Amino acid sequence: MGPGGLAPNGRQRPNEARDQELGMAINKERLVSRLDSLGRIGATAEGGVTRLAYTPEYRQAEEMVRRWMTEAGLEVRTDPVGNLIGRREGDRREQACLTLASHIDSVLNGGRYDGALGVISAIEVAHALSEGGVLLDRPLEVVVFMDEEGARWGDGLFGSEAMTGQLSAEVLERTDRNGVSRAEAMEDWGLDPARFDEAARDPSEIGPYLEVHIEQGAVLESEDIPVGVVDAIAGPLFLEARIYGRADHAGATPMGELRQDALAGAAEVVLAAEAAAQATSPSCVATVGRIEALPGATNVIPGEVMLSLDIRDVDLGARDRAEATIHGAIEAICEKRNLTFRVDELQRTEPVTTSPAVVEAIAAACESLGLPVFPMPSGAAHDAQVMTAVADVGMIFVRCRAGISHSPEEYVTPDDVFVGARVMYEAALRLGRD
Ligand code: GLV
Ligand code: MN
Ligand code: MN
Repeated sequence: MGPGGLAPNGRQRPNEARDQELGMAINKERLVSRLDSLGRIGATAEGGVTRLAYTPEYRQAEEMVRRWMTEAGLEVRTDPVGNLIGRREGDRREQACLTLASHIDSVLNGGRYDGALGVISAIEVAHALSEGGVLLDRPLEVVVFMDEEGARWGDGLFGSEAMTGQLSAEVLERTDRNGVSRAEAMEDWGLDPARFDEAARDPSEIGPYLEVHIEQGAVLESEDIPVGVVDAIAGPLFLEARIYGRADHAGATPMGELRQDALAGAAEVVLAAEAAAQATSPSCVATVGRIEALPGATNVIPGEVMLSLDIRDVDLGARDRAEATIHGAIEAICEKRNLTFRVDELQRTEPVTTSPAVVEAIAAACESLGLPVFPMPSGAAHDAQVMTAVADVGMIFVRCRAGISHSPEEYVTPDDVFVGARVMYEAALRLGRD
C-alpha cells in the first residue's frame, strides 16, 4: 500500500483509522428521504404499501432504485428473472463479489421497511464508498431480489432461488388471484420465462453476502439495543390444505352426522395447527393466514375450504415434527367429520445458520461503533437463507417499533436506520477485503 493509505493505483484503500471516520460517511438524510420516497410507491390508505412482483408499482419502485444505484456509482443490469443488480468493480477483478441485498416487493398492505430498509442501506453503503473514493478488494454488488414475499403466487424467495439455481420450473405455472400465471407476468414484464435458469450464477462469482433487515419482532426493543446479529434463520414451510365436505341447505340439514361442513372441520384444523406449534418447541410457529370457503353463501353449508399453512422453526427436526402432528390432526378431524382432504406443498425452505466469518465481521463492526453485539435468530424468511447455498451469509437486524411488521404500523426510527447502515458499512469494509 502506498503512502496515506493509497493503493498503488492512487485510490484510497481502507485502513482501521480511516474506517472509523468513514462510518460517518453514511448520509442519514439521504437514507431517510429515500426510504420515504420508496414508501410512497404503492402507498395504501392505511399508511402501508402494496408492491407485488411484476406490477406497475414494482416497476415504478424499480426505476427509482435503479436511478439511486447509478447515482451511487454502480453499473446496473437486470437478470433473466428481473433481479436488479448494481455492480462496482474492486481492486482485484477476478475475486468473488461482496453482495449487499434485500427486496422491494411487499405483502398486501405491508410495511414501508420490510426489504426496503435493506435495499436503501445497501445503496447507501455503495454511495458512501464511492463518495469516499474507497476501493474494496472485492467487486461490490447491490442486489434487489424479485418476489421475496411470495404475496402474489404464494411462494417467495423467487429471485434468490433463481440466482442460486434452485428454482423449479413448476413455480412459473402458478396463478395469482386474477388467474395470471407467473410466466405470463414475466412475459408482460419483458422477460422470457423459459430462460429463468439463465439467472443462475456461477457460485465462484459470489463471495460474502450481507443483508440489513428490520427485526420483525420485539426482542431488540425489549433489550433496548438498536441492532442484532442474526445467527440462524427459521425455514418456512408453506402448505395449502383443501378440505372437502358437502354443500347443502343450511336450514334444512339438521346438526349432526348428516352435515359434512368443511369449514367447521377447517376451524378445528386452525386450532390444531396452533396447538401443534405450541407443543413442539419454543421456536416453532404455525399460522393459518388465508381461508376460503365455497360456495361462500350464508344459507349454504360450506362444501369446500382452502386454508394456507405456514409452519416454521430454526430446528428442522422440530418443524418436521410439527408438520407430522398437523397432518395427523387433519386426518383425524376429517375422519371424525366424514370429510376428505388433500395437502399441497407451495414452499419448503430449510432453516440455516449464518456464516461465522460474516457474523464476526458484523460483530467487529458493532464493536467499532461502540454497540453491543447481540446474536439472535430470525423467525422470518429472507433471501439470505437461500444464498447460503453459494455464499457465506450474514444479516444485521434493526430494531422496529413494537416488533410489528407485515403491517402499515411497521416503523423504524431514523436513528436506527442510520445505525443499521453504519454497521453494514463497517462490516462491508471488513468483508470487502482480501
Ligand atoms: C417473508 O417475509 C416471510 O418470512 O414470509
Ligand atoms: Mn423482508
Ligand atoms: Mn416480509
